[in-house]
Amino acid sequence: MKLDFDSKELRVFDKEEIFKIHPLWIRERSIEKGEVDQNSLQRLYDPEKIEPDLQIKNAQLLADNKMLVEFSDNHSATYCLDKLITEITRSNVLPPKIYWNKNDAELKKFSFAYGVNDAEKIGFIRETNFGKLFNVRSQKQPNDLAYTSIELESHTDNPYRKPVPSIQFLFCIENSCKGGDSTVVDGFKVAEDLKKENPQAFNILVNTLINYKFEDNDAILEKTGKIIKLSARGELKQIKYSNRLDFVFYDEPKVLEEFYAAKRVMHQMINSDKYILQFHLEPGNLLIMNNYRTLHGRRSYNTSEGSRWLQGLYIDHDSAESKYKLLSKEVE
Ligand SMILES: [Fe+2]
Repeated sequence: MKLDFDSKELRVFDKEEIFKIHPLWIRERSIEKGEVDQNSLQRLYDPEKIEPDLQIKNAQLLADNKMLVEFSDNHSATYCLDKLITEITRSNVLPPKIYWNKNDAELKKFSFAYGVNDAEKIGFIRETNFGKLFNVRSQKQPNDLAYTSIELESHTDNPYRKPVPSIQFLFCIENSCKGGDSTVVDGFKVAEDLKKENPQAFNILVNTLINYKFEDNDAILEKTGKIIKLSARGELKQIKYSNRLDFVFYDEPKVLEEFYAAKRVMHQMINSDKYILQFHLEPGNLLIMNNYRTLHGRRSYNTSEGSRWLQGLYIDHDSAESKYKLLSKEVE
């Protein structure tokens, strides 16, 4: 690694890359005493403390891939360059996502047997109006189609919540009925293919506002969102798709005609054999899904020949990602 600088910019040369760093950006990463609390490493000063035209007076490499920077406000700080590069390239966030369709996916990679109570080892359980733990089985007067025996097409759960639950656990207790196979689809793969094959439909689903709604005697839940949500960087961030809960907002017929055509294309894709991975959950199996990406469903089943009983719960991304990062630190 090499360094170069002038008063308004610090340049770090790492292999083939040059990272140009603003003086204020590097200054606010100082963890010297007085700048941050030495236990929590949280910043102790207001932004007004730092002069807006702060300049770099000197920068030099130290041993162990460290760097010393001196600033025009007489502050000097030592930095770990590896840590800075990791932050700049955002390479410490989470493992890269691998998109899959039916032929790419190996079921054994995505399923394993476990106890539902072990969810709390991964993250905090998100309680909803369906309870901390909900029982998915056929009911006489269901408040959701999940609690019937009919087929459920590919969908994401609870798009009407704020925020939408992140990770779903479905633990199989009984599944002796004829039918009742589970299905999963990688919504990001579908969205990626849709963008390539029909960019107009993709853009309509990225931009059209939908009202997602659930209502029963005890709860009225609504959230506005889009079927395909992108991040500020244009990356796929979330799929919200549930054909029984989405109500597109009123608009001109011509606009809605295009929306319904686009939705039809996506609907056909997520329910096509190319993308659906189908399997029969056995008692003791646990299916874990990222509800922001993976759509799931089930085939219809006949309760006169046996029983089907799954138990479900949700945990949120923040606590699960935190667990992943803590465990990553341990194995480093
Ligand atoms: Fe569901």
